[in-house]
Amino acid sequence: MTENDLEKLLETLTLEEKVGQLIQLSGDFFTDDTALAVGPQRKLGIDPAMVGLAGSVLNVVGAEKTHEIQASYLAKSRHKIPLLFMADIIYGCKTIFPIPLGFSSSWDPALVNQCYRMTAREARAMGVHVSFAPALDLARDARWGRCLESTGEDPWLQSQYARAVVTGLQESGDLAHEGIASCIKHFAGYGAVESGREYNTVNMGERHLREMYFPPFRAAVNAGCELVMPSFNVIDDVPSTANTWLLKDVLRDEWGFDGVIISDYAAIRELVTHGVASDDAGAAESALEAGVDIDMKTACYANNLCRLVRMGKVSEELVDRACLRVLRLKNKLGLFEDPYRDTSRDVESACCLTTENRALARRMAEESLVLLENKADILPLDKATLRNVALIGPYAENHDLLGLWAVHGDASDAPTLGTALREVLGDRMTCAQGCPILVDESGLGSFGHRSVSSEEKTKEELARLREEALDAARSADVVIVALGEHPLQSGEAGSKTDLRLPQIQRDLLHDVHALGKSVIVLVFSGRPPVLTDIREDCDALIEAWFPGTEGARAVSDVLFGRVNPSARITMSFPYATGQEPLYYNAFTTGRPQKTSTHTERFTSRYVDCPTDPLYPFGYGLSYHHCRYGELRLSTQKLSPEGELTASLSVRNTSSRAGDEVVQLYIRDVTGSVVRPMKELKGFRRIHLEPGEECLVTFTITERMLRFWRRDMSFGSEPGAFELMVGRNSSDVQVARFELLETR
Ligand code: GLC
Repeated sequence: MTENDLEKLLETLTLEEKVGQLIQLSGDFFTDDTALAVGPQRKLGIDPAMVGLAGSVLNVVGAEKTHEIQASYLAKSRHKIPLLFMADIIYGCKTIFPIPLGFSSSWDPALVNQCYRMTAREARAMGVHVSFAPALDLARDARWGRCLESTGEDPWLQSQYARAVVTGLQESGDLAHEGIASCIKHFAGYGAVESGREYNTVNMGERHLREMYFPPFRAAVNAGCELVMPSFNVIDDVPSTANTWLLKDVLRDEWGFDGVIISDYAAIRELVTHGVASDDAGAAESALEAGVDIDMKTACYANNLCRLVRMGKVSEELVDRACLRVLRLKNKLGLFEDPYRDTSRDVESACCLTTENRALARRMAEESLVLLENKADILPLDKATLRNVALIGPYAENHDLLGLWAVHGDASDAPTLGTALREVLGDRMTCAQGCPILVDESGLGSFGHRSVSSEEKTKEELARLREEALDAARSADVVIVALGEHPLQSGEAGSKTDLRLPQIQRDLLHDVHALGKSVIVLVFSGRPPVLTDIREDCDALIEAWFPGTEGARAVSDVLFGRVNPSARITMSFPYATGQEPLYYNAFTTGRPQKTSTHTERFTSRYVDCPTDPLYPFGYGLSYHHCRYGELRLSTQKLSPEGELTASLSVRNTSSRAGDEVVQLYIRDVTGSVVRPMKELKGFRRIHLEPGEECLVTFTITERMLRFWRRDMSFGSEPGAFELMVGRNSSDVQVARFELLETR
């Protein structure tokens, strides 16, 4: 349909029908069984007359189910405007790859883009039109469970992934024929919740928001994302959902975004809870005026907008504007021409969980596994000479390697670690659980198909599990210990105050290590855990994240050397929880511990913990070793219209081929405002054969040095800069240059 056709269609709609397009309800409302529907309707308190007019569906996935709901809806619809199906397809649909904090460690946006193209095809075949992805929340606090969905603590790197995911999901952008629409979230500042506590208050100035939290969202808007979801939190004491500065002045007017804004789940109703609306009508009015087009899963729009318009309290133009945006999106998706978008059960089964998709997920997982320790190069293991391996721990035979937000994936599709290792070792392996993930799951709260276990293991049962594991370890050459967080301990509403692994797991590892065997630890988690004591009780340590459907096989590939690990962490790992929030691109403060002129005590530090991270941003080990040559600059004077080249050679001095991630950081030594000690500005992912040397170069221009200055203008300032190149944010060579005055 043309724009003109859409406007004509809009003119034919009643006010109720227009408001209907602004309502999103879950699948249980779209049933022909009125008795079934009564429950959810009563619970939501929604006007039953509006339910049949709702324009979009939340989290229903599957060709048959979506087809059935669409057909039934259209059969009863006067206007015949098709339903929009939106779902949380966050890091895979049926074929699940590593969590975003995991895949971001690959420093391989091109591969990430391929994974999201694959995801878009699976989701499209399953009748999904929109995915609520990517989550672009900068994550600097590992206590916050949703760092699982983030691509880390650096805004520039997160912007690369933002583009990769949006263009992966939306493919060429011809959404009528390929791909699904991307809904980026949660705009904005959500990762900065105080104390890392979910849904908590966010307090930060506009400059910090623009400098650190906006860039990934801006990159996604520039990449053409079709929808934006505001965050639950406040910005400058106004909830994002009703924040006109954020949604209208910045997102729409400054950035030119004219797509659909959909609230987060129940967020409009929560404006009353926040205390910025006195009732649902006030909440509806505030959200619509701020620019929120669709109300996800509350009755605020449904029960109030028509009355507010008729009372003259809300302009019908606002309803028309919002409705037209929704119609445009449906039109872009080709729904008017084909509400079913060539989905069918056959297309679905032909597209999902294919051999190719599994292979891609496996490759993504292989590039996401971070080798944190490898003492005496104990890894990779030589499968030819191994006589007996003990695989112990709560993740030894655990299918649930998908992470919390693999909403539509099935853990049963994922081989366990035991299965994957058995494929290599055959009967040369003994498995023993050793202990449960948690002794007490009661505080977790269930989510979707993940329920909390009320099973209490007796002391005797726990002792038996432990003894079985120690027996297996005693008769093994090598012990692999698979530990980790419970899947419900991270992701949404997964905030923690103690980032260490559960005590029962740490005790098991300590007892195993005391046996004097070679111990390799694998950690499955949705965040950077505190591994300070774990590190002392093992010879090799791998952060496996929640690695997805093929994650176990990817772990096996790394353990036995079929793959040389190349991942580098994108979020700092702390010594202790108390260091959080912890991030590399921090300010020096007036009393930096290492360089302050004050006595040691009176510097920015702790009396009971190091200041640095246990593992810094950009860190990770590989099986190969590289020598970095001397860093050279083409000039020490960069003119505003010129460019400067930084170069250094990297040589693989080992007998193994491998990938190296060479990282470029820059520091603005003096600015009109305080500037971070370093900021990632580029990287090169290079492949080096044994003995091969490569000259790595970076081109620096004035544009890369711009920031939000004291007067809130965006630009660079002349003066001294440090340029750093190295294998991670701490292990760098430093050179200095000057940005000259603009003539
Ligand atoms: C949740 C999350 C959001 C998700 C939405 C729909 O509360 O905040 O990320 O997309 O609801 O499930």
